[in-house]
Amino acid sequence: MLIYILSRSGSLYTTNRIYNAGISSRHNVRVIDHMECDLLIENGEYKVIYEHEELIKPDFVIPRIGSSVTFYGCTVVRHFLNMGVKVLNKPEGIINSRDKFRSLQILTEAGIRIPKTYFSNDLYYAERMVQTHLGYPFIMKVLEGTQGQGVFLVHTEEEAEHLISEHVKKRTRILLQQYIAEFSGKDIRVIVINGEIVASMMRTAAEGDFRSNIHLGGSGKIVDLSEQEKEMAIRSVEVLGLSMAGVDILRSSEGPMVIEVNSSPGIEGIEGVTKIPIAEALIESIEKTVLI
Ligand SMILES: Nc1ncnc2c1ncn2[C@@H]1O[C@H](COP(=O)(O)OP(=O)(O)O)[C@@H](O)[C@H]1O
Ligand SMILES: [Mg+2]
Repeated sequence: MLIYILSRSGSLYTTNRIYNAGISSRHNVRVIDHMECDLLIENGEYKVIYEHEELIKPDFVIPRIGSSVTFYGCTVVRHFLNMGVKVLNKPEGIINSRDKFRSLQILTEAGIRIPKTYFSNDLYYAERMVQTHLGYPFIMKVLEGTQGQGVFLVHTEEEAEHLISEHVKKRTRILLQQYIAEFSGKDIRVIVINGEIVASMMRTAAEGDFRSNIHLGGSGKIVDLSEQEKEMAIRSVEVLGLSMAGVDILRSSEGPMVIEVNSSPGIEGIEGVTKIPIAEALIESIEKTVLI
């Protein structure tokens, strides 16, 4: 089958792994930079122009859309979808997962436990909300942040004021969240593909950090998931409208909680830790989907 991977570069680890897994299974795979795709609607037909050529309709599209280009990337995915192409993750699902608060609303609707979270347009009453609902320390997160970069642990009122005013100035939207102290510096990353758990690992933060992202120096190890965690991960991906995603879970004293669902999860760290060939599992799963 002809597969397009929508990715900014073929040399990115995950893109490269999926590309090679597809080629090894005798598929025709091409990496297409979604930011270089021109979209044409002509007489009710959808066309994608890439490097001055009209792309032929593929059998399957794997979007790997970075968070800084969600809007255009999802428009490209929508174009392929309208051409009648099957896509790994639909644009609505990607958009749902990018907005951390929107994700939490959808997860809550599905009965999935999340940390107490506050979101406001002006943050004028943020301090009062923290006092009555969250307490110190609490977590502050950039709404569309990734790789731990926009996540802060706020200890004092002064720190809160400073960070809030910084974000207000930059016009970045933030959410305030209950700090799960009992699982600090850790999280569980679960990779789900088409309703199945393919791999999971426990990540531990680098010395002195509370964020366990591998990009920030966190390290991973194999973890056994409880039945509840497995169900929770699979259901989270489903309700957000995705087929493949990475789900981040914290083990709180009230039970497992989902903090985010990532629609373009990197697989370098988790393949290294678990030795599970996730790229091959993805290609196998796509073969089944396309044959249906
Ligand atoms: N509510 C929380 N309580 C404790 N730690 C948290 C909380 N939220 C996030 N963290 C830590 O910060 C990391 C990054 O947060 P996350 O919401 O996954 O954002 P990102 O998209 O940047 O990865 C998590 O992996 C976890 O280690
Ligand atoms: Mg995360």
